[in-house]
Amino acid sequence: MNFEYTEEQLAVRDAAREFAQSELFPGVIERDTEAKFPKDQIKKMGELGFMGMMVDPAYNGGGMDTVSYVLAMEELSKIDASASVAMSVNNSLVCWGLEKYGSEAQKEKYLKPLATGEILGAFCLSEPEAGSDATSQKTEAHREGDFYILNGTKNWITNGNTASVYLVIAQTDVAKGHKGISAFIVEKGWEGFVVGKKEDKLGIRGSDTHSLMFTDVKVPVENRIGEEGFGFNFAMETLNGGRIGIAAQALGIASGAYELALAYSKERKAFGKPISQHQAIQFKLADMATSIEAARLLVLKSAWLKDQGKDYAHASAMAKLYASQVAMDVTVEAVQVHGGYGFVKEYHVERLMRDAKITQIYEGTSEIQKIVISRGILR
Ligand code: CAA
Ligand code: FAD
Repeated sequence: MNFEYTEEQLAVRDAAREFAQSELFPGVIERDTEAKFPKDQIKKMGELGFMGMMVDPAYNGGGMDTVSYVLAMEELSKIDASASVAMSVNNSLVCWGLEKYGSEAQKEKYLKPLATGEILGAFCLSEPEAGSDATSQKTEAHREGDFYILNGTKNWITNGNTASVYLVIAQTDVAKGHKGISAFIVEKGWEGFVVGKKEDKLGIRGSDTHSLMFTDVKVPVENRIGEEGFGFNFAMETLNGGRIGIAAQALGIASGAYELALAYSKERKAFGKPISQHQAIQFKLADMATSIEAARLLVLKSAWLKDQGKDYAHASAMAKLYASQVAMDVTVEAVQVHGGYGFVKEYHVERLMRDAKITQIYEGTSEIQKIVISRGILR
């Protein structure tokens, strides 16, 4: 058992912290208010190697471990969860899925530019009537010679308009249920592929969330990922790692809010002394720090299991379930510690509170994580 980070992991954490302060912090309130995607910031994150951190250097990636990725996600999420979700989707859903299951040609063509952040990727599983119940896919693809003809609608897609490459899950044989679902790589700009309007959201307002419509889109057979019928397992395996990224995002939102509350409690005076000297505030800080530390251990454990090549499905579901609840609890308390100032944008904690909520919804709601965990326990 070793709780020490390596030199490399610390260097990644420090680089992410520095980038978050110098590049993400300026303008974060305006981007949230205007629901503006952090385009320039994401470009710089690509240049610094944050968009393909765990990808093999042979495919232009950083060759880093999942623990380093988690540390970077936490630091960036303390400041801007809209930027960090773009990073999470690109790294742990799109790049990971392609590196693990893509063909050599797919890796050459798509993974290499995705890993450098030159282009962005999106992961398209959810539909208007298939969110938690992800096997009920209505999007369908049928084969015609060397192509599949893709029809259907995807909902809530992160990086929906900014992406160039989309991993799309679709039904190829309804009769086979989830064994009749396949995964495809679709490029922006292909005929029949239309991006819907941007969603106006409670939190992560800078993130680019769109519905996508596919009408008779011709997808070459070589763009299918793995065998026909492998798509649902592909999605589930990919989401196991994605959930580590979102758990780290939740951890970052919580620890960002905690750090703000701690600093504020030492400055703000009431009844003749800093509010940090009132026991009610001290106990809030103690509860926040303890739950954040517990969440951090779960997140790091799931990342470590993945790095060791061990089963991490159960651990990543636990990490996401717990860290997202901690993000909600801690951000609500951080607003409380700030009093009225916590309720206005200038102090940042209200944004973190709004951003926290999505971590209990996407990449599987908290209820779905409980299904995954309980099935693991009872198996
Ligand atoms: N890991 C690996 N395989 C898994 C799995 C997991 N965590 N969960 C399910 N599977 C496999 C099962 O083993 C089974 O495969 P086999 O038949 O080959 O054994 C197959 O998937 C079907 O499983 P179930 O019979 O359990 O299916 P179900 O319909 O009862 O439940 C579910 C499946 C776990 C609820 C699943 O539908 C699910 O995870 N839903 C949530 C969907 C989700 O997370 N969406 C996120 C979209 S992406 C996103 O949100 C990105 C973002 O915001 C940034
Ligand atoms: P529903 O599945 O309709 O769930 C409604 C409620 O019922 C929830 O509380 C749920 O937990 C509960 N529930 C459902 N089934 C059960 C059950 N069996 N037992 C107990 N409770 C249950 N999807 C993508 O594919 N790609 C993306 O990039 C992406 N990005 C997103 C970004 C944002 C901002 C948002 C809001 C969503 C995004 N999603 C994305 C979709 C997200 O994954 C789904 O919203 C989520 O999986 C829940 O599905 P749903 O919205 O259809 O809710």
